[in-house]
Amino acid sequence: MSLSVEVAVLNKISVLVARRSSVDEMLPAVLKILHSEMGLLRGTVTLREGDHLVISASEGLSKDEVDKGLYKVGEGITGIVAQEGKGRIVPDISKDKNFLNRTGARTGESVAFICVPIIHQDDVIGTISIDRRVDEYTDLKADYHLLETISNIMADAIFAAYLAHQEREQLIEESNRLKLELENKLRPTEIVGNCSNMKKVYLMVSKVAASNATVLIRGESGTGKELVAKAIHNNSQRKDKPLIIVNCAALPESLIESELFGHEKGSFTGAINRKVGLAELADKGTLFLDEIGDISLPMQLKLLRFIQEHTFYRVGGNTERKVDVRIIAATSRNLEDMIAKGTFREDLYYRLNVFPIYMPALRNRKSDIILLAEYFLQKYSKIHNKTVLRISTPAINMITSYYWPGNVRELENCMEYAVLNTSDNVISGYNLPPSLQTAEATAQSSVTPTERTGNYEAMVASFEKELIVNALKVTKGNATAAAKYLGTTQRVVLYKIKRLAIDTALYK
Ligand SMILES: Nc1ncnc2c1ncn2[C@@H]1O[C@H](COP(=O)(O)OP(=O)(O)OP(=O)(O)O)[C@@H](O)[C@H]1O
Ligand SMILES: [Mg+2]
Repeated sequence: MSLSVEVAVLNKISVLVARRSSVDEMLPAVLKILHSEMGLLRGTVTLREGDHLVISASEGLSKDEVDKGLYKVGEGITGIVAQEGKGRIVPDISKDKNFLNRTGARTGESVAFICVPIIHQDDVIGTISIDRRVDEYTDLKADYHLLETISNIMADAIFAAYLAHQEREQLIEESNRLKLELENKLRPTEIVGNCSNMKKVYLMVSKVAASNATVLIRGESGTGKELVAKAIHNNSQRKDKPLIIVNCAALPESLIESELFGHEKGSFTGAINRKVGLAELADKGTLFLDEIGDISLPMQLKLLRFIQEHTFYRVGGNTERKVDVRIIAATSRNLEDMIAKGTFREDLYYRLNVFPIYMPALRNRKSDIILLAEYFLQKYSKIHNKTVLRISTPAINMITSYYWPGNVRELENCMEYAVLNTSDNVISGYNLPPSLQTAEATAQSSVTPTERTGNYEAMVASFEKELIVNALKVTKGNATAAAKYLGTTQRVVLYKIKRLAIDTALYK
């Protein structure tokens, strides 16, 4: 390259740097100048992020190639240059063993590669490199020195941007940490789940807990309504007072009033003694009316009065009594439909529906399913004194593709069943209850579609495959040892490996 070209390049770059445009603008512009003035094939600027060098600008590389270009300090030419803080010339990259060609861009050409470090106060903060075709006039040393000069000119400006970038990263990190801390604070310890719908629940709980407001918890059966009711009570000022749970669905119509409000001696047949009701027991605490949608219309009216005035009469008594209770109600029923049908009082509905909290169905909490499964795995391993360490991938697939009509309670039961059912320390697909052995789960079976197999055979094949794969994992892909592990012959194992298309190389 002639001296005049060199001067022109340096001039243009100095102007660019002096303008103090942002690094995002400056780096590509510098590479463009190198490209147009020196006719190089490709140019790359990397910036250091921890142990890595990330391509921050490039010329002549496609986006795909850029995405692939991440270098580790000390690895490859770029990495070595960054580590040693000294530039390198590779006269012919096709002959250099250190050349990683990470981006995959350079193939089949005879080109030279020059890379120099970008140094700011003895610290390497990045690299600049170029690729150029070599012919008899090429003076690689001259190019090298030019690149070094350019690197020196740019170092300060890059460093300023580099600092700004790091500060931004730190800010993001800090704000993420604070967000996480806040979320963790909101989440009641006994409730598992991070999905956005559950985060909304936690937020609602934290907002309402301290007040005396009536809360109505809605959601399908087994979604954790009772758990949330407990969390509200435990996070309220009433936490040291009783939380009394009344399961309205479990009480026969004839008993519910006396259970709730108590009765005087002899007030009805069987009322041998005076009895204090649950409402009185809950005084100063919380009364949780579960399955509120299951009570009769006459009882609804009495409840309405109680919720409005907090006053009641014991059955057979004529003294008005008053208690200080906070009311939480829950239901899995569609109260609006019930109002339309005339089976639920609208006035009671409005009394209860002051602060509704909706529990999401488990099938809409896909991201929490595994979390909950692991949680219950730990819980029941401990309870049943077993060391179940993990859930196999096929079992995870079955768990996540199931519809979960019974929600978290069903998942909990399912994991307890599986823990009891497994004989090694893994929950496999065949350890799960029959309700999960669905077509979806067996769809992953490797039985070829041309064999007309019914569901049963597909399921068996799926289990067989899992058993053999598990044995191969344990024996590091050794079929003989796997046969021994399974208590069968090598012939059987080899036959199954072939038939079920198992790749033993994966386990070696
Ligand atoms: N998010 C969760 N984290 C941990 N355990 C949960 C969660 N949700 C529910 N459970 C567990 O699932 C079971 C059912 O929860 P809970 O009794 O609170 O549901 P529910 O909505 O009141 O059900 P139902 O309408 O049938 O009364 C309980 O054993 C509970 O501990
Ligand atoms: Mg319940």
